[in-house]
Amino acid sequence: MKPAHGCITMVDELGSIPEPPKEVIIRVKRYDPEKNRVWWQEYRVPTYRGMTVLDALLWIKEHLDPTLSMRYSCRMGVCGSCGMLINGVPRLACQTQLGAIATPENPVVTVEPLPNFPVVRDLITDFSSFFEKHKSIMPYIIRRNPKEVDEAPREFLMSPEEHEMIYQYTLCIMCGLCYAACPVAASDPEYLGPQALTQAYRFIVDVRDEGADKRIAVVDTEHGCHRCHFAASCSAVCPKDVDPAAAIQRLRRIVFLRRLGLWRKKRGSPVAGPLEKPLRQVKAEYPKHNILPGVDPEQQAREPVDIDFRDEWLKQ
Ligand code: FES
Repeated sequence: MKPAHGCITMVDELGSIPEPPKEVIIRVKRYDPEKNRVWWQEYRVPTYRGMTVLDALLWIKEHLDPTLSMRYSCRMGVCGSCGMLINGVPRLACQTQLGAIATPENPVVTVEPLPNFPVVRDLITDFSSFFEKHKSIMPYIIRRNPKEVDEAPREFLMSPEEHEMIYQYTLCIMCGLCYAACPVAASDPEYLGPQALTQAYRFIVDVRDEGADKRIAVVDTEHGCHRCHFAASCSAVCPKDVDPAAAIQRLRRIVFLRRLGLWRKKRGSPVAGPLEKPLRQVKAEYPKHNILPGVDPEQQAREPVDIDFRDEWLKQ
């Protein structure tokens, strides 16, 4: 696992995460909305090599306290739903190994809900306003003639170099870690925040898009890109190396140049023309290096998938 830069994690000389202590103490900040009560609760969790904070929380839920609430889905750093404040740093719980943050001398791991978000219960935060901000920058391709999108016979053209200009920013999984780390979002709840501003930049510079004016009208405001102090804590905690701090500075440059009349978006790239020749079919080879001896992948692909349901699963 590659630790997000800026997060303090321990990595041994071989570059791998060391084994965690045999037992860790997970100290969770809890919130019960029915009783309007906030308190800290500690749980002792036996560990194994590679165990993540999310694994530990699920172990607690299964063995010690079924009332502990958290949000997660993919368990592999893709869905962005398990963001939490772990040892004071916004991180994905499923990507944070206990061995990287706990030692035998200090086996305590503190887990809190993400800051800058309203807390729903325990570690679950409300992302409604965050998603509204994302929606406000119109995160989709806009063309002057909407039919070009709705009825496009084929894709818009884009060169590999043009794709590279936006690729890094397309990796955002909307986990909200950047927003949780942002000191401006902490003081101004109406601030659009690093995630929405980065996506505004990503679509403004996309060669297929013609909606720059509409988006600039959203970001060139009191609570838009000019509020950024360039603390860069957003980039330090981003689990996908999206670098929102850089995107916001580039966005501000565009906004300033446009105010001076020195920036104008070119017309969006055209739709690809009809194919001159039908697409050539290429026979893909199965990768050989990870096949077990005696296994024929082509034979397996032809066979129906047989799932062995256990009786006790069906009874549940
Ligand atoms: Fe999906 Fe952690 S559970 S990112």
